[in-house]
Amino acid sequence: MRIEQLTHALGAELTGVNLADAVHDEGLFVEIRAALLQHRVLFLRDQEISRAEHVAFARRFGELEDHPVASSDPEHPGLVRIYRTPEQPNDRYENAWHSDATWREAPPFGAVLRCVDCPPVGGDTMWANMVLAYEKLPAHVKDEIADLRARHSIEATFGANMPIEKRLALKAQYPDAEHPVVRTHPETGEKILYVNVFTTHFTNFHTPERVRYGQDANPGGADLLRYLVSQAFIPEYQVRWRWKPRSIAIWDNTPTQHYAVMDYPPSHRKMERAGIIGGKPY
Ligand code: SIN
Repeated sequence: MRIEQLTHALGAELTGVNLADAVHDEGLFVEIRAALLQHRVLFLRDQEISRAEHVAFARRFGELEDHPVASSDPEHPGLVRIYRTPEQPNDRYENAWHSDATWREAPPFGAVLRCVDCPPVGGDTMWANMVLAYEKLPAHVKDEIADLRARHSIEATFGANMPIEKRLALKAQYPDAEHPVVRTHPETGEKILYVNVFTTHFTNFHTPERVRYGQDANPGGADLLRYLVSQAFIPEYQVRWRWKPRSIAIWDNTPTQHYAVMDYPPSHRKMERAGIIGGKPY
């Protein structure tokens, strides 16, 4: 297996490897897992892999989970279909910087995404390194956010286009989660800036040290959150991947965010994602 780093921030392309082999080859799987921890997102081309092998490879990292809004392949639970067609002009969720499902108490560990079909041009996906984004913050901002916690919600994104009853039912089934604004990677010990499009507000900003008058809380907290969320937009922290059918991306969802560029309608884009269950952030 050869590993070619794609940017200084994150991402590497693997060549000379067939992911289906890693389902049974322990040594190969260990190598891929180590590369994932180092480069945070791995890319492969021309992978002849069946849906069953896709699922079996992802399950080597852990159990898979379905998505409450996007449906899964009926024969392969845990394999979420992200199919965009001209008939679904309003399904625009992936083109926002996010770490998958941080509205869960235990957000996913990572994902294995396979391109089934894509437009000849456009429909790229971008990833950002949120360890680097944290490292590069000014020291006074790091001090200010060290003990902050924030609310993450499914309601205002996936729920927004639903009738109110359906949206409230979604929120009741998936209540908001609270996470630290700076979380620690469970395996590398790195600090990660952990706010994204699902983050609605800080839950412990309103203290006498930060808020002189009640009025300081807003926009003080909202402005700080907006600044932190915007760090993922910085190109120096990013990598961009151009899809072809049979390309695969594997990402560590804890230290990264991603953004699927929707510059391709009315073309089709069909992706299948195996999302791997993760642990509670700390
Ligand atoms: C996702 O947001 O998990 C999907 C990314 C993509 O479709 O490129």
